[in-house]
Amino acid sequence: MSYSIELSKIEAITRNLVLTNDQLEKVASLLLNEFNEGLGKQTHPSASVKMFPTYVRDVPNGRGKYEEGKFLALDLGGTNFRVLLIDINGDAFHMENEIYAIPQEIMLGTGEQLFDHIASCLSQFVEKRNMKNCRLPLGFTFSFPCIQEGLIRARLVQWTKGFKCAGVEGRDVVQLLRDAIKRRSDVDIDVMAVVNDTTGTLMSCAHKNRECRVGLIVGTGTNACYMETLDNVELWNEEIDDPRQVIVNTEWGAFGDNGVLDFIRTKWDEEIDVNSLNPGKQLFEKMISGMYMGELCRVILADLTRRGLIFEGEGSEKLFTPWGFKTAYISFIESDSKHSYTETRKALEELDLTNVSNEDCEALKLVSARVSTRAAYLVSAAVATILNKIRRPHTTVGVDGSVYRYHPHFHDLMERKIADLVHPEYKFDLMLSEDGSGRGAALVAAVAVRQPTR
Ligand code: GLC
Repeated sequence: MSYSIELSKIEAITRNLVLTNDQLEKVASLLLNEFNEGLGKQTHPSASVKMFPTYVRDVPNGRGKYEEGKFLALDLGGTNFRVLLIDINGDAFHMENEIYAIPQEIMLGTGEQLFDHIASCLSQFVEKRNMKNCRLPLGFTFSFPCIQEGLIRARLVQWTKGFKCAGVEGRDVVQLLRDAIKRRSDVDIDVMAVVNDTTGTLMSCAHKNRECRVGLIVGTGTNACYMETLDNVELWNEEIDDPRQVIVNTEWGAFGDNGVLDFIRTKWDEEIDVNSLNPGKQLFEKMISGMYMGELCRVILADLTRRGLIFEGEGSEKLFTPWGFKTAYISFIESDSKHSYTETRKALEELDLTNVSNEDCEALKLVSARVSTRAAYLVSAAVATILNKIRRPHTTVGVDGSVYRYHPHFHDLMERKIADLVHPEYKFDLMLSEDGSGRGAALVAAVAVRQPTR
C-alpha cells in the first residue's frame, strides 16, 4: 500500500501542545495565586499547592557554620534508592555512593517492606565499608510531600510518582526509618535532618554560589523550593526570629489539581492521568516530568497511528502498551540534527518499529519536541513566578533531575523562556547541581550537628 504521511495534519492536531507567552503568563499568574493560597493560614487547608515550610532557615555560605567530617545520606524519591557516604572538608566534598533498585512490588507494597528494604541497603553499605560500629550523622532526602514538624520530623501527606506503599501516609517517615533499623538492630544511625530533594539541591548549590535561593527538580517528578521571608509564611508556628526566612517547599507538582490548568490540558494529558497511580493528583507534574513525558509521547503516537497518519496506521504491540516508551528516548530523538534520523530510528527500533519512513521519523521528532518544549516552558513559567515573587536583583536557581540534566535543549529552552516571562530587573541564572539530593542532605545534617537545639 502506498502511504503518504500528512505532516501538516499532525502539526495541526498537536498544535494544542504549543503554548504562547500569553498562555504562559496566565499560568504564572495562576500559580502565584496558588502560592499565596498555600502560604495563607486560612486558605492553606484547601489549597492545591501546599507551600510547606521546611525547618531549613539558612544557606551554608561561609565556613564554620557547619560541621566537617563524615556523614551518611539516604536518597529516596526517584526510581532508585541511594546510600551515600560524604566527607565534608571545608569546600571539598568526597563522596561515595551506591545505588539500589527498588522492585516495583516494594514501591507498591507496604510501608514496612519499603523501610525494611531501605534499612537492609543501609546495612549492606556500612558492612561493606567496615563501619558497622560507627554512629554517623545521617541526612535523609525523602522526596515526597511532607508536613515538616521539625528538622527530623516529616509526616508524609501523600505518595506521588511511582510509589504507593500502604500505611505510610500521615506518618513520620523518620520514625518509620528508625523502627526498621531497630528491627534489624545491626546498624546504628543518628538522623540529623530529613529534607526534600529540592531543599537538598538549593543547599548544595548555595554552598558554592551565594546567590542561590531556589532549588528546582525536573526529573522523575517536578518541584521547587525557595527562600521566603517569614512574614509571608503564615503557617510558621515557631518564633519569628533571625534569620527571618525559611525555605518553603512549594510542591508545585499538584498545581492544577483544582482544575485551574484545564485550559491548557489536552485529552492526552487526561489519558495519562486516568491511567496513573494517583488520578486527579499532580496534574502539573504529569505535563512535565520524566515519569510521564515518554508515556505522553507514546499516547500521542498511538493516537496518530489509530487515525492512520503514521506507521502505516499499524504501529506495533509495544506502541500500544502503556509505559513502553522511555522518557530517555526523547533526549536521544532530540539530539538528532535537522533531517537526520539516526537516534530517532534507534528509539523506534526499541518499540519494534523498524520499517519506518523518514516522514514517520519527522512526525516522531515533532511530537517529542512539542511535548518536551511544553514541559520546559511550563517549568519556566513556574520559575518566573518565584523570581517575580522574591524580587531579588540576581538569583541563582540550583537545578537537578534527569530531564534537565540529559535533555539536550532543556536548559536553553528554559533560559530563553524565563527571560521572556520574568521582570527584566530580576536577573537569574540556572546552575546544574552536583548531586543535590545527596550532598544537600549531608549539608543540612552538618549544619544541624552544630545547632544546640533541634
Ligand atoms: C514529586 C514530589 C516532590 C519532589 C518531586 C521531585 O513532585 O512530590 O516532593 O520534590 O517529585 O522529586
